[in-house]
Amino acid sequence: MTKFHVLMRISQIYDSKNVALNQFVQEFLDTINTLIKREGVLSLKIRRDDFFLNDQRLRYSVEGFTSFKYLLTQWKKRLIGEVIFKTLTEEEWLRYFIYTFINLEEGREENADLLVRQLTSHNITSIEVNPLEVVEGEEEAFTVQKEDEREVAKRIFFETVGTIKEVITNIKGKQHADVRKLKRLAQKAIHLVIEDESILLGMTMIKNYDEYTFNHSVNVSIYSLAIGKRLGFSKKTLTELGITALLHDIGKSKIPREVLNKPAALNDEEWEMMKRHPLMGVEVVLNLKQLGEINPRMVVGIFDHHLMPDLSGYPKLFRKKEVSLFGRIIQISDAYDAMTTPRIYKKIPYTPEQALAIMLREKIAHFDPLLLKIFIGLVGVYPIGSLVFLDTREIGIVYKTNPESTWLDRPIVLLVDRDEEGHPKKELVDLTETDGGGSYKRSIVKTLDPYKYHIDIAKYFL
Ligand SMILES: [Fe+2]
Ligand SMILES: [Fe+2]
Repeated sequence: MTKFHVLMRISQIYDSKNVALNQFVQEFLDTINTLIKREGVLSLKIRRDDFFLNDQRLRYSVEGFTSFKYLLTQWKKRLIGEVIFKTLTEEEWLRYFIYTFINLEEGREENADLLVRQLTSHNITSIEVNPLEVVEGEEEAFTVQKEDEREVAKRIFFETVGTIKEVITNIKGKQHADVRKLKRLAQKAIHLVIEDESILLGMTMIKNYDEYTFNHSVNVSIYSLAIGKRLGFSKKTLTELGITALLHDIGKSKIPREVLNKPAALNDEEWEMMKRHPLMGVEVVLNLKQLGEINPRMVVGIFDHHLMPDLSGYPKLFRKKEVSLFGRIIQISDAYDAMTTPRIYKKIPYTPEQALAIMLREKIAHFDPLLLKIFIGLVGVYPIGSLVFLDTREIGIVYKTNPESTWLDRPIVLLVDRDEEGHPKKELVDLTETDGGGSYKRSIVKTLDPYKYHIDIAKYFL
């Protein structure tokens, strides 16, 4: 995908004879031919908003997201839905193919046919092209505007994950980290949270196992911002809270990988080291070049995020103090995200419902009760991302909580039933809907464990 993306971009800049192109053509060619040798054929196909490589759906990744997005847009604009390389490909064919492809007129329905005809006239018969399939019913479930917001949210989410990764890598390598970029992203996220928080909350379902630290930071930031919004914070305070949450575990960049990713329980020494991460976080932040972007409230927030109201957490204090508001907010977001994410030492995480139950049980000592109440109001009795079984015997995923507080148990649910081809229907239903007689059309009977049903919840939020 990346190679295809780069080649398409370069071809739009240089003409087909330019030597600057050679390297990229060659790299893409090598990739294609390696795959063809292994699999016999190479088909790249779009269905809805996904790419399929030889019928395998490709996962979004942080690194690949830009390429995905670019190819999806470029193909869709030209109404091309599939490209198949049927035999080992030659350099000249590939060059001709790319240029003919990018020169297709946008929105012309017969583009696929036209492209095939042009290829055939050049004696290239091993590359097949098919038009974009319009999947029916796609437009019904989501309005166009919502879809746009979702796209924006997705982009900001992945961009932020990428940026926090960059910041951490820079700090590890003792280079300067760019905090201003994080600030800009936090501001964009705030705009979205204010508009409709459910979209970004849905993004937190993307639990990326390998990228835990980065995803975790972004998720904690999303939850914290949503709490901050409910508390009526100003945009300036929200921005500070967003950055603090993004940087809350920055101290972990000083802890060796082996300790962070240890599959077994930590020994005393390792645990002591781990417990120093809030303090090390403060040190890192105070050493940032752009210290002007940081204020005391943010530094204290990072220091406080594992203290807990009864101060039973860490670091241990010499003198009693109140845990700061930023610290208390981040602590709730942090605990919830950590519990609901699979980790190397706990591969099957708690369901959102279980996590909330645990937090409620521990609330007096470990969480600010009032903030926890706000948080539950935010994620709902059935938190976004819960898999639920309905009295209609349908299975659905909680997609959005109902803004009306009397309806905390009647969220908007995305049905996950499949059509004949096995693709999810993606139908959104509102559980407050009643039939003619005034009784509810659908109600939640119980929650289900997605791991038992092999349902990849994140997929429904992308
Ligand atoms: Fe932490
Ligand atoms: Fe954390």
